[in-house]
Amino acid sequence: MIEVVCGDITALEVDAIVNAANNSLLGGGGVDGAIHRAAGPQLLTFNRTLGGCKTGKAKISPGFRLPARYVISTVGPVWHGGEQGEPELLRSCYVNSLELALANNVCSIAFPGISTGVYGYPKDQAAVIAIRAMQAYTDRFKKIIACCFSEADAALYREVLQEHS
Ligand code: APR
Repeated sequence: MIEVVCGDITALEVDAIVNAANNSLLGGGGVDGAIHRAAGPQLLTFNRTLGGCKTGKAKISPGFRLPARYVISTVGPVWHGGEQGEPELLRSCYVNSLELALANNVCSIAFPGISTGVYGYPKDQAAVIAIRAMQAYTDRFKKIIACCFSEADAALYREVLQEHS
């Protein structure tokens, strides 16, 4: 089932949380910064061994000090108006993260709004891509969480979920 929550993804007690990372996987601001702070320095040390991550792809690491067992880092597209493959790349982030989670026996997974912060992806368009991708996997996970960082974002995701159920 898909659940929309509002809060800090680093606090969620799920098998895996997804990080909206950059291509280096070496940390940054936003949710990337929050996850690295909460996981501790071992996440950076581990990610250094991964050799980066292409936009739209996903890589997995232990959760270290996080409640979550795994961090699945994915790199969303930077928004350039929507004509440069951004929708397909954003969808790939969700699908590749979900597939990687399945391959690691993850039963519960939480996503932030990938690309909707620094990368500038319009939240309403991103929410439709996110919910549609999650819905294709609901029968293979115990729980898929869309973790929003504001009540406004949560209301948007709930509305999209309602429209697409
Ligand atoms: N928990 C849940 N969601 C969060 C948190 C948090 N602790 N902190 C931020 N967010 C939300 C933001 O409000 C936004 O909706 O995560 C969403 C993604 O925003 P960003 O973190 O800015 O990620 P993104 O837009 O994908 O940009 C990625 O930012 O931090 C850098 O290294 C990162 O270069 C990469 C870029």
